[in-house]
Amino acid sequence: MIGRLNHVAIAVADLEAAAAQYRDVLGAKVSDPADLPEHGVTTVFVELPNTKIELLHPLGEESPIRRFLERNPAGGLHHVCFEVSDILAAREHLIAKGARIIGDGQPRPGAHGKPVLFLHPKDFAGALIELEQTSELEQAPP
Ligand code: CO
Repeated sequence: MIGRLNHVAIAVADLEAAAAQYRDVLGAKVSDPADLPEHGVTTVFVELPNTKIELLHPLGEESPIRRFLERNPAGGLHHVCFEVSDILAAREHLIAKGARIIGDGQPRPGAHGKPVLFLHPKDFAGALIELEQTSELEQAPP
């Protein structure tokens, strides 16, 4: 069901410093920061040849990243994002298999404006999984 690894997300305490490390030390292409108020995060994307790294920083008092950084002050791996062709079909499949969807189960626009869902880490070996719906064209570039 899951397709390509879309990105790996890392929570960071200092977004500017983390972006500079990826840009200046690792030599990667790094986006400008973007605020996603609905998710309580500011993101910077690092473009790699085969995937992306999403640097996450808290936005607002209720940000889930704020709580994550309280437990992991140095930052750390936060989630992995897999692509799916049909997020509602994927959700029904997962629920039928007994997996838990975080929140109200309704897909919301993610960092790329496409619908995303998050799966409960306790069902997947302690790792938070994001599913992102991607169009056929973007899934299978020529
Ligand atoms: Co993500």
